[in-house]
Amino acid sequence: MTPATPPATPSATPEVPVVREMRWWDIERVLRLEVDLFPEDAWSPGMFWSELAHARGPAATRHYVVAEAGGRLVGYAGLAAVDRTADVQTIATARDHWGTGLGARLLTNLITAATSFECREVLLEVRVDNRRAQRLYERFGFEPIGIRKGYYQPGNVDALVMRLADPAAAAEPATPAASLAAPSPAPSPAPGSPASVPSSAPGPAQGSVPSSVQGTKTHG
Ligand SMILES: CC(C)(COP(=O)(O)OP(=O)(O)OC[C@H]1O[C@@H](n2cnc3c(N)ncnc32)[C@H](O)[C@@H]1OP(=O)(O)O)[C@@H](O)C(=O)NCCC(=O)NCCS
Repeated sequence: MTPATPPATPSATPEVPVVREMRWWDIERVLRLEVDLFPEDAWSPGMFWSELAHARGPAATRHYVVAEAGGRLVGYAGLAAVDRTADVQTIATARDHWGTGLGARLLTNLITAATSFECREVLLEVRVDNRRAQRLYERFGFEPIGIRKGYYQPGNVDALVMRLADPAAAAEPATPAASLAAPSPAPSPAPGSPASVPSSAPGPAQGSVPSSVQGTKTHG
Protein backbone atom coordinates (compact mmCIF):
# COMPACT_ATOMS: atom_id res chain seq x y z
CA MET A 1 0.00 0.00 0.00
CA THR A 2 1.34 3.43 -0.89
CA PRO A 3 2.01 5.56 2.17
CA ALA A 4 -0.09 8.70 2.40
CA THR A 5 1.75 11.80 1.28
CA PRO A 6 2.49 13.95 4.32
CA PRO A 7 0.66 17.28 4.27
CA ALA A 8 2.75 20.16 3.03
CA THR A 9 4.21 22.10 5.90
CA PRO A 10 3.57 25.81 5.67
CA SER A 11 6.67 27.90 5.20
CA ALA A 12 8.04 28.90 8.59
CA THR A 13 9.33 32.24 7.37
CA PRO A 14 6.89 34.44 5.49
CA GLU A 15 8.23 35.85 2.24
CA VAL A 16 9.95 39.22 2.60
CA PRO A 17 8.23 41.69 0.27
CA VAL A 18 10.23 42.94 -2.69
CA VAL A 19 10.04 46.68 -3.31
CA ARG A 20 10.20 47.79 -6.94
CA GLU A 21 9.13 50.64 -9.21
CA MET A 22 5.35 50.93 -9.69
CA ARG A 23 4.20 50.68 -13.32
CA TRP A 24 0.83 51.31 -14.96
CA TRP A 25 -0.05 47.61 -14.92
CA ASP A 26 0.06 47.69 -11.10
CA ILE A 27 -2.69 50.32 -10.84
CA GLU A 28 -5.58 47.84 -10.73
CA ARG A 29 -4.08 45.89 -7.79
CA VAL A 30 -3.05 49.11 -6.03
CA LEU A 31 -6.65 50.34 -6.29
CA ARG A 32 -7.92 47.23 -4.51
CA LEU A 33 -5.72 48.09 -1.51
CA GLU A 34 -6.53 51.79 -1.86
CA VAL A 35 -10.32 51.36 -1.44
CA ASP A 36 -9.75 49.07 1.54
CA LEU A 37 -7.27 51.38 3.31
CA PHE A 38 -8.72 54.78 2.35
CA PRO A 39 -12.46 54.03 2.13
CA GLU A 40 -13.53 57.66 2.54
CA ASP A 41 -11.29 59.29 -0.02
CA ALA A 42 -9.72 56.64 -2.23
CA TRP A 43 -7.80 57.94 -5.22
CA SER A 44 -9.34 57.29 -8.63
CA PRO A 45 -7.50 55.31 -11.32
CA GLY A 46 -6.94 58.62 -13.15
CA MET A 47 -5.02 60.04 -10.19
CA PHE A 48 -2.57 57.13 -10.25
CA TRP A 49 -2.26 57.34 -14.05
CA SER A 50 -1.53 61.05 -13.76
CA GLU A 51 1.12 60.48 -11.09
CA LEU A 52 2.86 57.73 -13.04
CA ALA A 53 2.89 59.95 -16.14
CA HIS A 54 5.49 62.07 -14.32
CA ALA A 55 7.54 59.22 -12.87
CA ARG A 56 9.98 58.47 -15.72
CA GLY A 57 12.53 60.27 -17.82
CA PRO A 58 14.97 63.09 -17.11
CA ALA A 59 12.19 65.52 -16.12
CA ALA A 60 10.51 63.09 -13.71
CA THR A 61 9.00 64.66 -10.59
CA ARG A 62 7.43 61.52 -9.13
CA HIS A 63 8.77 58.32 -7.54
CA TYR A 64 6.31 55.44 -7.01
CA VAL A 65 7.03 51.96 -5.67
CA VAL A 66 5.06 48.82 -4.86
CA ALA A 67 5.84 45.92 -2.54
CA GLU A 68 5.07 42.35 -3.62
CA ALA A 69 5.16 39.14 -1.59
CA GLY A 70 4.13 35.72 -2.84
CA GLY A 71 2.71 37.22 -6.01
CA ARG A 72 0.50 39.57 -4.00
CA LEU A 73 0.73 43.34 -3.96
CA VAL A 74 1.07 44.23 -0.28
CA GLY A 75 2.10 47.88 -0.27
CA TYR A 76 2.73 51.01 -2.28
CA ALA A 77 4.07 54.50 -1.82
CA GLY A 78 4.68 57.62 -3.86
CA LEU A 79 6.58 60.88 -3.64
CA ALA A 80 6.45 64.15 -5.61
CA ALA A 81 9.46 66.46 -5.85
CA VAL A 82 9.18 70.05 -7.04
CA ASP A 83 11.56 72.95 -6.39
CA ARG A 84 13.67 70.89 -3.97
CA THR A 85 10.66 70.13 -1.78
CA ALA A 86 9.35 66.57 -1.70
CA ASP A 87 5.84 65.58 -0.71
CA VAL A 88 4.79 62.10 0.37
CA GLN A 89 1.77 61.59 -1.88
CA THR A 90 0.69 58.24 -0.49
CA ILE A 91 1.94 55.29 1.58
CA ALA A 92 0.05 52.15 2.53
CA THR A 93 0.59 48.51 3.42
CA ALA A 94 -1.86 45.59 3.43
CA ARG A 95 -3.45 45.03 6.84
CA ASP A 96 -1.83 41.63 7.28
CA HIS A 97 1.60 43.28 6.89
CA TRP A 98 1.06 46.02 9.48
CA GLY A 99 3.76 45.99 12.13
CA THR A 100 6.23 44.02 10.03
CA GLY A 101 8.40 47.00 9.15
CA LEU A 102 7.12 47.29 5.57
CA GLY A 103 5.82 50.83 6.12
CA ALA A 104 9.27 51.83 7.35
CA ARG A 105 10.91 50.23 4.30
CA LEU A 106 8.61 52.09 1.93
CA LEU A 107 9.22 55.37 3.75
CA THR A 108 12.98 54.77 3.65
CA ASN A 109 12.66 54.25 -0.09
CA LEU A 110 10.77 57.56 -0.53
CA ILE A 111 13.26 59.50 1.60
CA THR A 112 16.13 58.03 -0.41
CA ALA A 113 14.35 59.16 -3.58
CA ALA A 114 13.88 62.66 -2.10
CA THR A 115 17.64 62.75 -1.55
CA SER A 116 18.23 61.66 -5.15
CA PHE A 117 15.92 64.51 -6.28
CA GLU A 118 18.17 66.78 -4.18
CA CYS A 119 15.25 67.88 -2.01
CA ARG A 120 16.03 69.85 1.12
CA GLU A 121 12.83 68.88 2.92
CA VAL A 122 10.02 66.32 2.79
CA LEU A 123 6.44 67.30 3.67
CA LEU A 124 3.37 65.16 4.24
CA GLU A 125 -0.21 65.36 5.41
CA VAL A 126 -1.69 62.80 7.76
CA ARG A 127 -5.13 62.58 9.39
CA VAL A 128 -5.02 63.97 12.91
CA ASP A 129 -6.62 60.72 14.12
CA ASN A 130 -4.05 58.44 12.38
CA ARG A 131 -1.62 57.98 15.27
CA ARG A 132 -0.11 54.81 13.82
CA ALA A 133 1.10 56.63 10.71
CA GLN A 134 2.18 59.65 12.76
CA ARG A 135 4.37 57.41 14.95
CA LEU A 136 6.01 55.97 11.85
CA TYR A 137 6.79 59.48 10.57
CA GLU A 138 8.05 60.64 13.98
CA ARG A 139 10.50 57.73 14.09
CA PHE A 140 12.08 59.11 10.90
CA GLY A 141 12.37 62.60 12.33
CA PHE A 142 9.25 64.22 10.81
CA GLU A 143 7.92 67.03 13.00
CA PRO A 144 4.46 68.61 13.04
CA ILE A 145 4.41 72.10 11.48
CA GLY A 146 0.73 72.89 11.08
CA ILE A 147 -2.86 71.83 10.58
CA ARG A 148 -5.00 71.93 7.43
CA LYS A 149 -8.56 72.32 8.64
CA GLY A 150 -11.10 70.01 7.00
CA TYR A 151 -8.48 68.70 4.54
CA TYR A 152 -10.06 65.24 4.33
CA GLN A 153 -13.57 65.32 2.88
CA PRO A 154 -16.34 64.27 3.09
CA GLY A 155 -15.51 63.43 6.71
CA ASN A 156 -14.22 67.00 7.35
CA VAL A 157 -11.16 65.61 9.16
CA ASP A 158 -8.16 67.89 9.74
CA ALA A 159 -4.71 67.02 8.39
CA LEU A 160 -1.55 67.32 10.43
CA VAL A 161 1.26 68.64 8.22
CA MET A 162 4.66 67.15 9.06
CA ARG A 163 8.12 68.05 7.83
CA LEU A 164 11.44 66.25 7.63
CA ALA A 165 14.11 68.94 7.43
CA ASP A 166 17.09 66.95 6.17
CA PRO A 167 16.17 63.85 4.15
CA ALA A 168 19.82 63.11 3.37
CA ALA A 169 20.47 62.59 7.07
CA ALA A 170 17.43 60.33 7.55
CA ALA A 171 18.08 57.75 4.82
CA GLU A 172 21.27 56.39 3.37
CA PRO A 173 21.85 58.17 0.05
CA ALA A 174 21.67 55.63 -2.77
CA THR A 175 20.87 55.62 -6.43
CA PRO A 176 17.14 55.02 -7.09
CA ALA A 177 17.95 51.80 -8.99
CA ALA A 178 20.02 50.45 -6.12
CA SER A 179 17.40 51.34 -3.57
CA LEU A 180 14.72 49.54 -5.58
CA ALA A 181 16.76 46.39 -6.00
CA ALA A 182 17.86 46.21 -2.40
CA PRO A 183 15.86 48.58 -0.23
CA SER A 184 17.70 49.85 2.78
CA PRO A 185 16.51 48.47 6.10
CA ALA A 186 14.45 50.80 8.22
CA PRO A 187 16.66 53.13 10.18
CA SER A 188 16.75 52.32 13.84
CA PRO A 189 17.88 55.52 15.46
CA ALA A 190 19.56 55.22 18.81
CA PRO A 191 17.53 56.55 21.72
CA GLY A 192 18.18 60.22 22.04
CA SER A 193 19.42 60.62 18.47
CA PRO A 194 17.80 63.38 16.38
CA ALA A 195 15.63 60.87 14.49
CA SER A 196 14.24 59.08 17.53
CA VAL A 197 10.62 59.56 18.56
CA PRO A 198 10.27 62.59 20.76
CA SER A 199 8.77 61.65 24.09
CA SER A 200 6.20 64.35 23.57
CA ALA A 201 5.87 65.74 20.08
CA PRO A 202 5.58 69.50 19.95
CA GLY A 203 2.07 70.71 19.35
CA PRO A 204 1.43 71.67 15.75
CA ALA A 205 1.28 75.35 15.01
CA GLN A 206 -2.04 76.59 13.71
CA GLY A 207 -1.69 78.83 10.71
CA SER A 208 -0.08 78.95 7.36
CA VAL A 209 1.82 75.91 6.12
CA PRO A 210 3.38 75.34 2.73
CA SER A 211 0.94 74.17 0.08
CA SER A 212 1.06 70.69 -1.34
CA VAL A 213 3.08 70.07 -4.46
CA GLN A 214 -0.13 69.66 -6.40
CA GLY A 215 -3.87 69.75 -5.81
CA THR A 216 -4.03 66.02 -5.09
CA LYS A 217 -5.32 65.16 -1.61
CA THR A 218 -2.36 63.23 -0.35
CA HIS A 219 -2.44 60.05 1.72
CA GLY A 220 0.84 60.61 3.38
C1 LIG B 1 0.63 53.60 8.34
C2 LIG B 1 1.11 52.30 7.69
C3 LIG B 1 1.63 52.64 6.27
C4 LIG B 1 2.26 51.75 8.53
O1 LIG B 1 2.73 50.58 7.87
P1 LIG B 1 3.36 49.37 8.69
O2 LIG B 1 3.76 48.38 7.66
O3 LIG B 1 2.45 48.90 9.76
O4 LIG B 1 4.62 50.10 9.31
P2 LIG B 1 5.76 49.45 10.22
O5 LIG B 1 5.55 48.02 10.42
O6 LIG B 1 7.05 49.88 9.61
O7 LIG B 1 5.60 50.22 11.59
C5 LIG B 1 4.37 50.26 12.23
C6 LIG B 1 4.49 49.72 13.64
O8 LIG B 1 4.93 48.38 13.64
C7 LIG B 1 6.08 48.24 14.48
N1 LIG B 1 6.97 47.27 13.88
C8 LIG B 1 7.80 47.48 12.85
N2 LIG B 1 8.45 46.34 12.57
C9 LIG B 1 8.01 45.40 13.44
C10 LIG B 1 8.29 44.04 13.64
N3 LIG B 1 9.21 43.38 12.90
N4 LIG B 1 7.60 43.38 14.61
C11 LIG B 1 6.70 44.02 15.35
N5 LIG B 1 6.39 45.31 15.21
C12 LIG B 1 7.04 46.00 14.27
C13 LIG B 1 6.68 49.59 14.50
O9 LIG B 1 7.47 49.80 15.66
C14 LIG B 1 5.48 50.45 14.50
O10 LIG B 1 4.95 50.47 15.79
P3 LIG B 1 4.34 51.77 16.37
O11 LIG B 1 3.14 52.05 15.51
O12 LIG B 1 3.99 51.41 17.75
O13 LIG B 1 5.40 52.82 16.24
C15 LIG B 1 -0.01 51.24 7.64
O14 LIG B 1 -0.53 51.08 8.92
C16 LIG B 1 -1.14 51.59 6.67
O15 LIG B 1 -1.07 51.29 5.49
N6 LIG B 1 -2.22 52.19 7.19
C17 LIG B 1 -3.40 52.52 6.37
C18 LIG B 1 -3.07 53.58 5.36
C19 LIG B 1 -2.51 54.81 6.03
O16 LIG B 1 -2.99 55.26 7.05
N7 LIG B 1 -1.45 55.38 5.39
C20 LIG B 1 -0.81 56.58 5.87
C21 LIG B 1 -1.55 57.77 5.35
S1 LIG B 1 -0.85 59.30 5.95
